[in-house]
Amino acid sequence: MRNGVIAIHRDGTIALANDETYRIFNVTRPAGDTRGFSEVFRDRPDVVRALSAAFDLTTLPNRAELRLKDLDRVVGYTLSQVKDEDGRVIGAVMCFKDLTLVEQAEERERLRDRLASLGEMAAGIAHELKNPLAGIEVMAGLLRRQVSDMPDAQTLIADIISEAKLANAIVVEMLELVRPVRLQMEQVDVRDVLHQSITLAESKAQRGGVAVALKVPPSLPLVDGDPHQLCQVFTNLLTNAFEALGGRGHITIAALVEDVLHDPAFAIEDHEAPTKTVIVDVMDDGPGVPADLSDRIFDPFFTTKAEGSGLGLAIVRKIVDAHDGRIDLASTPGQGTRFRVALPVSSGSSWFK
Ligand SMILES: Nc1ncnc2c1ncn2[C@@H]1O[C@H](COP(=O)(O)OP(=O)(O)OP(=O)(O)O)[C@@H](O)[C@H]1O
Ligand SMILES: [Mg+2]
Repeated sequence: MRNGVIAIHRDGTIALANDETYRIFNVTRPAGDTRGFSEVFRDRPDVVRALSAAFDLTTLPNRAELRLKDLDRVVGYTLSQVKDEDGRVIGAVMCFKDLTLVEQAEERERLRDRLASLGEMAAGIAHELKNPLAGIEVMAGLLRRQVSDMPDAQTLIADIISEAKLANAIVVEMLELVRPVRLQMEQVDVRDVLHQSITLAESKAQRGGVAVALKVPPSLPLVDGDPHQLCQVFTNLLTNAFEALGGRGHITIAALVEDVLHDPAFAIEDHEAPTKTVIVDVMDDGPGVPADLSDRIFDPFFTTKAEGSGLGLAIVRKIVDAHDGRIDLASTPGQGTRFRVALPVSSGSSWFK
């Protein structure tokens, strides 16, 4: 049983208690004779109090909670009386469950809600900032023409323009993240997308001496997708890889096809062909992602870079989700990082013809 169960006699001795009981309450199972619950659980006064209530209260707790502070654990429990044929109370049963994981899931859910409303606010601000930023850029451009004979002023104005452009790029990214994705679906050749992404990533980050190997089998089927958005996925992954490598190292982009067998529970017909998925791995031999950060790198605004906005991977995840795809991270600190993107193969793809 995955729940804890403890049954006690009217005199307070334990009739039975399963292993889960001792695990959840972190108490050692006593050897030998059955003992009184107040003795066995003497280090858990909350439990003793809850059990004693079985014979004192008229309305017994249903779905009550115990907070075990020292164990950092929350336990949900229900208490019932056991009666004999004449209706006399002869014992009690407590059923309970460790709710700690449920609580953590709720906490995550609340965090997601908070992030969603933060995202909305960010979108509002980004939208408001777009116009003034464009204004700064245009007016600085006009001013530059008026001071053509002042080289110092020219340099300053050029700086103003490039800073305004940078701010605008962040604003555009932020809007991209919070807007719902609208896909212009086509049958996409992943090889073309990958070639374009390499070029784009090179224009965004310093490639330096990094070697890039692209391994795509000639028979790779087409996928259903939006080529521009998919291009953004791989551009962002490659930009991160270039940035992680800092000009030295290797990047391998490898694509392959994988059969995803239907879950029999959802299969419509027995003879249905297995779904195919195109897998694209983007691997680098850079510093890797520390294990404690691996959950957070997809969060919006999470960055470890001085100049980063932390939106790259959040956008990647959003686009992959919109394609019914998956993205996984595997990383060994000190050895490298692999991002694996799985995309469903187009049903109209020549693979099936
Ligand atoms: N290939 C990689 N190797 C090591 N760390 C990585 C890699 N890719 C991502 N990361 C980590 O994940 C974080 C988040 O990445 P993300 O692309 O979302 O934001 P960013 O690159 O910091 O900023 P932005 O992409 O918005 O300019 C990075 O700051 C970095 O710490
Ligand atoms: Mg990035």
